[in-house]
Amino acid sequence: MIIYHLSTECYPIAKVGGLADVVGALPKYQNKIKGIDAKVVMPWYNKPFVHQHEFDIVFDGFIHQGPNMLQVQVLKEKSDALGFELYMVRIPGLLDRDNPYGYQDENFQFLAFQHGVLHWLSAMEILPDVLHCHDYHTGLVPFMIEYCGEFKFLKGVKTIGTIHNGEYQGMMSWDMANYMPHFDSYKWGLLDWDGLLNPLASMIRCATAFTTVSQGYLEELFVSFRGLEGLVRQEFGKAHGIINGIDAEVWNPETDPMLDFNFNIKNAVAQKKKNKEKLCKEYGLRPELPLFAFIGRFATEKGADFLPDVVWRSIKQTYGALNIMILGSGNTYIENKLKEFDYTYSNFALELGYKEHLSHQIYASADFLLMPSRVEPCGLNQMYSMKYGTVPIVRYTGGLRDTVKDISTGGAGINFTYPGVDDIIHAINRALSIYSEKDLMENLIHANMNFDFTWEKSAEKYIALYQK
Ligand code: ADP
Ligand code: GLC
Repeated sequence: MIIYHLSTECYPIAKVGGLADVVGALPKYQNKIKGIDAKVVMPWYNKPFVHQHEFDIVFDGFIHQGPNMLQVQVLKEKSDALGFELYMVRIPGLLDRDNPYGYQDENFQFLAFQHGVLHWLSAMEILPDVLHCHDYHTGLVPFMIEYCGEFKFLKGVKTIGTIHNGEYQGMMSWDMANYMPHFDSYKWGLLDWDGLLNPLASMIRCATAFTTVSQGYLEELFVSFRGLEGLVRQEFGKAHGIINGIDAEVWNPETDPMLDFNFNIKNAVAQKKKNKEKLCKEYGLRPELPLFAFIGRFATEKGADFLPDVVWRSIKQTYGALNIMILGSGNTYIENKLKEFDYTYSNFALELGYKEHLSHQIYASADFLLMPSRVEPCGLNQMYSMKYGTVPIVRYTGGLRDTVKDISTGGAGINFTYPGVDDIIHAINRALSIYSEKDLMENLIHANMNFDFTWEKSAEKYIALYQK
């Protein structure tokens, strides 16, 4: 069975968040299953990876985007060292950028990617068994292969659409339809939602099946999906919730080259302490106090707007009996507020920006990881932290409620229900009392490390779905 994963991100080539981690791992684990050949197709980016690896140009052609004629090249990475074949689509001016997102003409960029991939497959008469589309950036593919004459070779190919984040739907005004490959205009209703062209809505309607990255999140979409609640209810028959896994080859505290002190379950307590001491020294924190960490995008979805209040209130209320460290970037108001506190409180450390190495060191060093998300389709941070013996404190939502159970119900984490500062502070207070009981804390470290979040099971669930 031949599967093409289409995505704008893939670790280690280009990563903005968890989408990259999933697309960098899932095909690798699928390929371990007999009879499966999973490949990844992504845009070409001007990233170190592409300059450090050799590629063959396997396709060179042209597409029309509205009045513009665009050159499309497909490059295949020569070594297949990632555990899957990697194809990158290069279109000068649109798919040759430094980063996946953040450009004024993103709509043109994503349309060109989808058009370019399908043009290549059709022109070369490559017939996959499944096209697996990730998020709205590739959400128009199921529609395109059915209703754009240019791709009639692909008509009938089965498609899976995975919703990693329903907060982003890629809505565009209808004039963008002029830049799509020519389609059967009778079918415009399959693209439309509320007077806009909505790629995510189109993906839900047109894909053979669609998935969300946890069962918990799927259930929430029925009542909260930025206007698409009715659609997801209507298409429920083809919806599946499949939880993400973690790539044990990358996220293993015993072998992780990004850690100063590697560890396994036997020496975790002592080695984590050494990691913590080093990190605290570097950031002027106090290693004898518990370390709470947050890693992630400063977005309301992640509850990052609570962080400034959480920082000052928890430090004041405990008379400075804890450390807080935050790694991330995003909303400038939040960044500026946190910068102020970085000067004010010696117990608080802030690192702005995206730092892969530091994130690993924090997972290994922290005692608790905070995830006060309002929305969390799956969340990978909590799984990484658990694997690295750090107790997760999570809001009970989406994938977080599927992966983290509270210690009061036999789990090894801390849950809270309401997304607000009071509930977060209450959860921190619970964490502090746990931390003061040495044996309990050590048990929790071990219990968290024992959870099995590897990809094998979920990779098989996807294969079963493809087969169906
Ligand atoms: P999302 O994709 O919504 O941002 P996930 O929990 O699925 O959330 O995945 C986030 C991924 O990005 C994790 O691998 C996390 O470690 C990483 N990450 C987030 N922010 C940063 C940062 N500032 N520096 C390094 N890694 C980060
Ligand atoms: C999205 C979600 C996150 C999920 C990730 C990978 O970015 O916000 O919860 O873990 O995709 O599926």
